[in-house]
Amino acid sequence: MFDVIINSMVINSVPDAGDRAEMLLKTMRHLNYKGYVFLMLPLLCLNNSKFLTKSKFEDMLRGIGFDVVLKKETPKIFFVVLQKPAAGEVRDVKIKSEWRTGAVIRKEKKYRNTFSVVFGRNGETKVKVKAKNKNKTNLI
Ligand SMILES: C[S@@+](CC[C@H](N)C(=O)[O-])C[C@H]1O[C@@H](n2cnc3c(N)ncnc32)[C@H](O)[C@@H]1O
Repeated sequence: MFDVIINSMVINSVPDAGDRAEMLLKTMRHLNYKGYVFLMLPLLCLNNSKFLTKSKFEDMLRGIGFDVVLKKETPKIFFVVLQKPAAGEVRDVKIKSEWRTGAVIRKEKKYRNTFSVVFGRNGETKVKVKAKNKNKTNLI
């Protein structure tokens, strides 16, 4: 378990969209409560993608249970600081059905980038995240 996890230009180096989702879920799992994630990826992955936008990506990060505590952009890089909530404040994991399909959301020609994050593609992702104030766990 870690207090801080740095994912710098790594998620975009993972070739499979399902593996990227798995990486984010495992990051949550291996982080201590109140721990931080420093996540960086090329801005083009989000601004130029057929499948993903910045807001959709941020929704996914919140859906997994992270708090987004800081966002920053340079002309080429998207940078976000995430925090795992304190024990007892961890939210239920909410994966929207549209995050499981990998459907094209931007059809115009200028969106040529195929970067995406797809949950549940490689079978069930067996990552348990404790639900808020309950003894149950969510199996995604
Ligand atoms: C562009 S480099 C970034 C290196 C460094 N983090 C940085 O910011 O300079 C991408 C790195 O992602 C690593 N990587 C690719 N797929 C990975 C995976 N599935 N799990 C862990 N690391 C992976 C590669 O080994 C490589 O070191």
